[in-house]
Amino acid sequence: MSLPKQVRLVEVGPRDGLQNEQQPISVTDKVRLVNDLSAAGLSYIEVGSFVSPKWVPQMAGSAEVFAQIQRKAGVTYAALTPNMKGLEAAIEAGVKEVAVFGAASEAFSQKNINCSIAESLARFAPLMEAAREHDIRVRGYVSCVLGCPYEGEVAPAKVAEVARELYAMGCYEVSLGDTIGTGTPGKTRTLFDTVAREVPRERLAGHFHDTYGQALANIYASLLEGIAVFDSSVAGLGGCPYAKGASGNVASEDVLYMFSGLDIATGIDLDSLIGAGQRISQLLGRANGSRVARARQAG
Ligand code: HMG
Ligand code: MG
Repeated sequence: MSLPKQVRLVEVGPRDGLQNEQQPISVTDKVRLVNDLSAAGLSYIEVGSFVSPKWVPQMAGSAEVFAQIQRKAGVTYAALTPNMKGLEAAIEAGVKEVAVFGAASEAFSQKNINCSIAESLARFAPLMEAAREHDIRVRGYVSCVLGCPYEGEVAPAKVAEVARELYAMGCYEVSLGDTIGTGTPGKTRTLFDTVAREVPRERLAGHFHDTYGQALANIYASLLEGIAVFDSSVAGLGGCPYAKGASGNVASEDVLYMFSGLDIATGIDLDSLIGAGQRISQLLGRANGSRVARARQAG
């Protein structure tokens, strides 16, 4: 099968990455990160979340971050919104694109958003309606698509069912999240093959955490399934507060390097992206999670 010629990267570092950092990060530093990412050529940046600060304190300053970023033309600045309250706060902050997030595992749904899968979908319905009225595009996430920290194996058919619901209620794209990074390439292909029977491939995205070091291989497997949108995180920042031990998303720099080796265009400048990753890693006092960045720094 031929690979896509062009791929879109969804940068989730400022949200998925920073939501899991223990130390507080100032609004100024978050704004700097977002501006660095847009300067590197990222055209889609998930900036923050409008969730309960009791659940995820790290995302508490998201409205201020949105108020202070330099908005570059052609760049989508998005936020997570779990319910109407989140959407209202996002609208107030001038956000034009949001994401709802559900799960393919009941236990994870309870731990992450304090409700069942069915309840979460019911909660999203009025949000979708209000978003439509405000001309706000909504992306959908399904978590635990290749395994759950509480339930173990997750059936691809269950993922397909939740993805279909999100798509049917108006999510223009559904991103499948390997929240704990246990997936492998064969399972990834089976997953997309199954879900694509319910949601068109061009409306699906891959979101791989790299806990088991499988993320790049899983992205390649997804490309073979005709998937052309991937979520990644600069410097491999992050994890999930409700999936203990889960490491960050696959590093954007590493994904970009692989794509350039496959002649797949993204419009992103690798050196600038490495610079952005180095800056935030130093600020957080952590090792840069991108292998490519580490190699370039050493070289
Ligand atoms: P709940 O406690 O069931 O909510 O939480 P509630 O409606 O009963 O409200 C309780 C309190 O929260 C009230 O405040 C509400 O006002 C407040 P109080 O009266 O007690 O002071 N509240 C809010 N505050 C701010 N923003 C809001 C909001 N909603 C209610 N939007 C809720 C339910 C969904 C709010 C909570 O569970 C929550 O915020 N969860 C967020 C979890 C989260 O952000 N997880 C990480 C992101 S998902 C992820 O990382 C996976 C992904 O990357 C894909 C993958 O890797 O798989 C996307
Ligand atoms: Mg994630």
